[in-house]
Amino acid sequence: MLEGKKIILGITGSIAAYKAAYLTRALIKKGAEVQIVMTPSGKEFITPVTLSALTGKPVVSEFFTANDGTWHSHVELGLWADAMLVAPATASTIGKMANGIADNMLITTYLSAKCPVFVAPAMDLDMFAHPSTQHNLERLRSYGNHIIEPATGELASHLEGKGRMEEPDRIVACLENFFSRRQSLAGRKIVITAGPTYEKIDPVRFIGNYSSGKMGFALAADCAARGAEVVLVAGPVSLSTPPSVRRIDVESAAQMYDAATREFSDADAALCCAAVADYAPAAYSEQKLKRTGENLVLTLSPNKDIAAELGRMKRAGQCVAGFALETEHETVNAQEKMQHKNLDFIVLNSLREQGAGFRIDTNKVTIFEQNGNKTEYPMKSKREVAADIVDVLSEYIAPVKK
Ligand code: CTP
Repeated sequence: MLEGKKIILGITGSIAAYKAAYLTRALIKKGAEVQIVMTPSGKEFITPVTLSALTGKPVVSEFFTANDGTWHSHVELGLWADAMLVAPATASTIGKMANGIADNMLITTYLSAKCPVFVAPAMDLDMFAHPSTQHNLERLRSYGNHIIEPATGELASHLEGKGRMEEPDRIVACLENFFSRRQSLAGRKIVITAGPTYEKIDPVRFIGNYSSGKMGFALAADCAARGAEVVLVAGPVSLSTPPSVRRIDVESAAQMYDAATREFSDADAALCCAAVADYAPAAYSEQKLKRTGENLVLTLSPNKDIAAELGRMKRAGQCVAGFALETEHETVNAQEKMQHKNLDFIVLNSLREQGAGFRIDTNKVTIFEQNGNKTEYPMKSKREVAADIVDVLSEYIAPVKK
């Protein structure tokens, strides 16, 4: 899977840099062409001579070659690569990447790179756990970068904990996995609804819900990473659009319905992830409602069910999947929803599970399929849950690989 792939390996100043030689060799053995870019402190931990001997190319570290003034173009490097891997990535480099502090060749290359970027953090456990590091990693994820989680074990400080750079073989496996999935949904169009809807009461008030949109955005990112054409119909959320995703912003359930049904007509699949308001105020008040001191009665009218409509529109070969967020009788309710909305599968998340639900980064789901399959997954990050869901979706819309 890495045959002929051009990979920039960024090496920073961590003791784990000693593993970079093995990592370089492992990438080359898989057929990759490797260009090393080092930060100045990376060179304190492993010599450029070792690395250039392995890659057969000079290591790039400075903007200019000192003796003849040759300029090393980070822009050309960034465009040359099929992937950039920063391993080991220190807290400092992660912080600079997250904030665009371009004070060395590695960061300028990162900012110029148009290719997928992988980051393998390596640091002490407390540094890794620090909110600042976690916040920076979250930022990198929001840019579409792939974080290769560090392992737990003995660290250079002799403390035990999470922060040890993942083993080179596993890093290589991550890249291989990425490239093998990358085109698996090429040519497929997938419509995803995400986030809450806001139903206007008057010019300053609305009925909404706590949905953050994170699950739907993670699904969009995953489908796009596998090469699908993704249309993300998003309610009001404060999330950035994943790379290569076409986003249609809507506010109300009615607007979401119009966009989703229009886009689904020539799509291969729809993932209905939005927390659509079931009701909207029957009448919108042009003027702000005034306080009267009396009870206020709002009359609500039912909204159209988007998932059910897509299930009704569905032609042979199209797949529609939905979500069920339940607080009781989870299994029965989820399966009933799958039936009456004519979904191919439904993803159940129970609000009773700790770590599942709104406004958090983890989720614990069970997938029920129309063919009777039931798969329970452990607690995972929403990104990992998205990958599990898209794996199931792929069985419906991707050519079956033997
Ligand atoms: N859904 C939708 N349009 C609606 C309501 C729900 O597309 N107007 C979709 C959701 O995106 C989800 C699935 O239907 O994929 C189930 O949503 P949920 O709110 O759990 O179900 P409801 O049908 O609204 O049932 P209830 O609120 O009574 O549990």
